[in-house]
Amino acid sequence: MSATEIVVAIDGPAGSGKSSVSKAIAAQFDFAYVDTGATYRAMAWWVLAEGIDPTDAETVAARCEEPRIDLATDPAALGVRVDGVDVSRAIREADVTGAVSHVSAVPQVRARMVQMQRDIVARAAAQGRGSVVEGRDIASVVFPNAPVKVFLTADTEIRAQRRALEDQERAGGAVVDVGSTVAGLEQRDALDSGRALSPLTRLADAVHIDATHLTLPEVVALVADLVVSAGSIMRENGPHG
Ligand code: DC
Repeated sequence: MSATEIVVAIDGPAGSGKSSVSKAIAAQFDFAYVDTGATYRAMAWWVLAEGIDPTDAETVAARCEEPRIDLATDPAALGVRVDGVDVSRAIREADVTGAVSHVSAVPQVRARMVQMQRDIVARAAAQGRGSVVEGRDIASVVFPNAPVKVFLTADTEIRAQRRALEDQERAGGAVVDVGSTVAGLEQRDALDSGRALSPLTRLADAVHIDATHLTLPEVVALVADLVVSAGSIMRENGPHG
């Protein structure tokens, strides 16, 4: 692996700021940005569109190879398509958010998505580009050898406020209730952290950043320092270091 093929793994709970940080790092270093949550959301969108009950794990498992999912990785032109349909906005709607924890707990779904995520990073590496990959199991399962591993958290109240603000912007300014956002986040945190397969975990070898009292530029600067240091170490160790 050369310095240009660096993988930056960013894991953390919903609303911790992973997406904003990952996009900023990808833009700064010209890396591919891989939003793995968007791949699970795309699958959940398809499950709902097909009229499949998202809690019916058996049917989800049997049919999850069917949809074609394409994820764009340029931070300036992001988007996700399912069978050619642009679902970038639709995957952020409440129905998909409600279904995605169930769909993403299905082993066959995870196996397919993990393979897709590794393929995307391999394509970027073949073009000499590094990748920033954000999710829940990136450092633990998808890229256990990633030279940069970040576990990003923030207090629930702060995460809920940020999420509510994002939802409000998407809803064209309509006020969103922070109380119900807290409840939704706590429910999703419990499902994502408590599931048997690839739960959200904080690894001992990941750098833990608590963003509760940090601004976005401050978090980005911390992660950028880690990327630069990892790049120097990889250069010192040679092309396969
Ligand atoms: O990051 P997000 O909120 O868009 O993620 C959507 C859901 O997908 C989240 O509830 C957990 C799941 N997910 C996962 O299981 N593994 C990942 N690597 C990324 C997301």
